[in-house]
Amino acid sequence: MKMLIRNRRLRSSEAIRSLVRETYITPNDFLVPLFVVEGKGIKEEIDSMPDYYRFSLDLLAKEVKELWAMGLKAVLLFVKVPDNLKDNSGTEALNADGLMQRAIKTVKDACPEMLVMTDVALDPYSSFGHDGIVGNGEIVNDDTTAVLAEMGLSHARAGADFLAPSDMMDGRIFEMRTLLEDEGFYNTGIMSYSAKYASSFYGPFRDALDSAPVDLKDIPKDKKTYQMDFANRDEAIKETLMDIEEGADIVMVKPGLCYLDIVRDLRETVNVPIAVYQVSGEYAMLKAAAEKGWLDHDAVMMEQVTAIKRAGAQVIASYFAKDVVKFIS
Ligand code: PBG
Repeated sequence: MKMLIRNRRLRSSEAIRSLVRETYITPNDFLVPLFVVEGKGIKEEIDSMPDYYRFSLDLLAKEVKELWAMGLKAVLLFVKVPDNLKDNSGTEALNADGLMQRAIKTVKDACPEMLVMTDVALDPYSSFGHDGIVGNGEIVNDDTTAVLAEMGLSHARAGADFLAPSDMMDGRIFEMRTLLEDEGFYNTGIMSYSAKYASSFYGPFRDALDSAPVDLKDIPKDKKTYQMDFANRDEAIKETLMDIEEGADIVMVKPGLCYLDIVRDLRETVNVPIAVYQVSGEYAMLKAAAEKGWLDHDAVMMEQVTAIKRAGAQVIASYFAKDVVKFIS
């Protein structure tokens, strides 16, 4: 048989495969989510996220030094807020000496060059587990965006490099960007969770922060009135284009693997960096399957993060970041 094209020639050895490989994973691809708690000497494993931890500030400092030494240069901070500080208006979120604000300073003191991004949303601070203020049978949009902008400013003042609003209220990027400009924080970046879906893959994260929505008689126990319907694709483009116009520097698709069609759509539509958040449920699924011996942990992990980058992500927020760097080095 005569064939003019034999595709297998380009696959015949690791040398040729690596020569023509289109996507490489490096430590530069990752943003490392970190969970922070009050206390001292605490490094507690999250039940539904094996080998992932909540750190008190002292051990957070140690952790970021370790990340930096591994070549991981960006972190995304989340805080677990004590119940007695939660309310319906995000009061504690604005506390200049709150856990997040201290966490930002801790990371910058420990590792000045580390890029610090912070989660901006009310859910860890909300007695109802919602990303916004609850009132009149809804999550009140405009009152929430005003608080979120103040919250972002407070993080910027504490030294955050980038704010990462994960709430999906309308107009919050505009509010945040204009307040930052007004206050002289024109160098503070915004990474918007622009296409964030109402997903059931966030369960373990809500365990980690004890932030799951509670039962309320007039409000559904999910986030479907503000996060996107997972059946929609065009809407992700609309959301993302709006956030870019409102002043976002980086946009995001979340979750990861089930949403790579969206990532590719955006790659072909926008000209800003795209982040993908490979979320807690994705992490938990692989850890569980690997624990049972049903999947090869490292091989599947590499396949997944490579697929995310191949789809068009420049930034991958992933709980696997350390595992990946250990594997590739
Ligand atoms: C909250 C927030 C969530 C995540 C990041 N920020 C959960 C939610 O929207 O309920 C999920 C991250 C993950 O599952 O890893 N604003």
